[in-house]
Amino acid sequence: MVLESKVTFITGGASGIGAGIAKKFIQEGTRVIICDVDAETGTKTAQQIGGNIHFYKMDISDEGEVKKTVETVINEFSRIDILINNAGITNDRLLLRMTKQDWESVIGINLTGTFLVTKTIMRYMIKQRYGRIVNIASVIGLIGNPGQANYAASKAGIIGFTKSCAKELAGRNITVNAIAPGFIETRMTGNIPAEIKQNYLKLIPLRRFGLPEDVANLALFLSSDRASYITGQVVCLDGGMVM
Ligand SMILES: NC(=O)c1ccc[n+]([C@@H]2O[C@H](COP(=O)([O-])OP(=O)(O)OC[C@H]3O[C@@H](n4cnc5c(N)ncnc54)[C@H](O)[C@@H]3O)[C@@H](O)[C@H]2O)c1
Repeated sequence: MVLESKVTFITGGASGIGAGIAKKFIQEGTRVIICDVDAETGTKTAQQIGGNIHFYKMDISDEGEVKKTVETVINEFSRIDILINNAGITNDRLLLRMTKQDWESVIGINLTGTFLVTKTIMRYMIKQRYGRIVNIASVIGLIGNPGQANYAASKAGIIGFTKSCAKELAGRNITVNAIAPGFIETRMTGNIPAEIKQNYLKLIPLRRFGLPEDVANLALFLSSDRASYITGQVVCLDGGMVM
């Protein structure tokens, strides 16, 4: 098993990509902590996956809740080796109609939330002199998208954040990388009308949408010791959409 005896902390692990990563990581022998604002789904997901997985209710944009949850996890598990910053939302609107609240809701969760969780957990990784951090960005952070200025800015921010963290933490044996998924079949993309989905499909050379498992396979590699010489990178996982 690639990650035997490690402790992994996954944000937004109740559903979609986060749940897919949790499932894969359990199969690879880690203890997994999933946290999410959606307690009902999070508890169910943990039960369904089974094994050494634990759910905690936590809002990544609430500094007090993040600190409390991380302290509880450290008391319980002594360490956190791998952090997957996955929780994220969309709140799409054309720029002309986008309110400050639309903007701040997405930046506050996707970008500030990622900052808060990373800052809190990296202290323990520094003490351990070991850590793997994988941030889930998006190809939209690289290419932009009409109606998603807030989301694109948050994901572009995560890319800059990833590179700065990689430079600050490299000397402590902590790698920090980002995955930029294209179109992955989850709840987030579930409501997109069929016609728009078909248009997206035409832009994907591999002619299929991605699955949470595709993201999980890359997260697994970047979290493993096989990727110990890779840091500060953004890997597109998009069936060839952006190249
Ligand atoms: N699905 C895609 O096509 C796609 C593409 C690129 C990037 N992404 C990114 O992947 C990540 C996962 O998205 P998904 O597609 O699995 O969507 P999803 O909606 O299935 O999962 C997101 C999870 O994050 C949780 N969450 C939301 N706000 C939170 C908060 N404040 N604190 C803690 N948890 C919170 C939700 O409850 C949910 O369980 C997101 O960051 C998203 O931006 C998704």
